[in-house]
Amino acid sequence: MRDVAVIGVGCTNFGEWWDRSFRNLFVEAGVMAIEDANLAGEQIDAMYVGNMSAGRFIEQEHIGALIADYSGLATENIPSTRVEAACASGGLAFREAVIAVASGMANIAVAAGVEKMTDVDTSLSTDALAAAADREWEGFVGATFPGLYAMIATDYMHRYPLTREQLAQVAIKNHYNGARNPIAQFQKEITLDTVLNSTMVADPLRLFDCSPITDGAAAVVVAPLETAKKYTDTPIKVLATAQASDTIALHDRRDISTLDATVAAGNRAFKMAGLERKDIDFVEVHDCFTIAEICAIEDLGFCKKGEAGRLTAEGYTALDGNLPVNTSGGLKACGHPVGATGIKQVYEAVLQLRGDAGKRQVAGAEIGMTQNVGGTGATVAAHIFGRT
Ligand code: COA
Repeated sequence: MRDVAVIGVGCTNFGEWWDRSFRNLFVEAGVMAIEDANLAGEQIDAMYVGNMSAGRFIEQEHIGALIADYSGLATENIPSTRVEAACASGGLAFREAVIAVASGMANIAVAAGVEKMTDVDTSLSTDALAAAADREWEGFVGATFPGLYAMIATDYMHRYPLTREQLAQVAIKNHYNGARNPIAQFQKEITLDTVLNSTMVADPLRLFDCSPITDGAAAVVVAPLETAKKYTDTPIKVLATAQASDTIALHDRRDISTLDATVAAGNRAFKMAGLERKDIDFVEVHDCFTIAEICAIEDLGFCKKGEAGRLTAEGYTALDGNLPVNTSGGLKACGHPVGATGIKQVYEAVLQLRGDAGKRQVAGAEIGMTQNVGGTGATVAAHIFGRT
């Protein structure tokens, strides 16, 4: 297997875009990434596109072909493949691109993610998102994503010492970071009152415990590490790519407050990279709801079960803390265009490792990690990156 590096990145602003279509968003991010890698489109050997539900959100399927066509690459006949794993679609698309280059099947591969969620009303987007859970056992009886994560939060708060105020600190921190990220959907700091007095969505989760509905796209270009310097002075090495699965329905889990797929993907990633938790300088985790960030920090092994709430409240995961978590603002403040999120996490990791993260730069960042979740944890992708 060859070592692989990220040589170019691009990302649209995340938000509610009435003036840009699904294909416009994708092309915008793709062109940014290709220009960043100093490439011509014809040099691309393969494309992998993360997308969860264009069929429900914009009534368009056959996304791989659509993207190749509107990127101007259909005439090059390059293979273009849609990857679907709910909210982990982007993370898995990235993994496929890395595997293609590592194996020698491709030299230059693009991994992208795109979702246009705001063309439908909230009831339809809620139902489309619920398709990432078990439709027969969860969706048909009315379980929504906020509802399922509320069950995780309730179970967690019953068993571990997490207060409502500590949970709110996840949102406060991520909005603070989002206010320093020019692509974030919400670039506004919030207070404890904002969270605690916001509308109840699914008890105990309030509006400001939830990621929003978002339009956006992100793209990255990967190449063999040995040739990466031909394209960029700052290639970022992919130190590990890992993936894991678990039961799709929450009630079948061994423990609903622990995402075993995160534990497995994290362990595999650390083993592949030959690193320990203490080597990680920052991590982008899948905070689709505030409780998800608490679980992620623990399930990746950065602290013991039951400690993440206290550590968050003490500033351990803040921008200037021991382990900055979600420097981009996370899904909570940066936004969550579901198929694009896993690629946006890679985008953020690359900016941090290049030293290009502006007001949210983690000083001296050498090694970063991403964790991207599909559903309530039935699919998890974990990646580790390092400066070269
Ligand atoms: N956090 C903070 N503010 C939010 C928000 C969020 N998650 N979602 C919406 N808002 C704001 C909007 O900007 C708007 O503000 P404004 O009045 O100042 O313009 C206001 O709240 C109302 O927005 P609206 O779009 O009408 O909200 P909604 O009630 O339709 O949707 C949720 C709110 C929480 C239901 C929706 O964001 C949601 O479903 N989130 C979860 C998404 C999800 O499950 N993703 C997959 C996870 S695995």
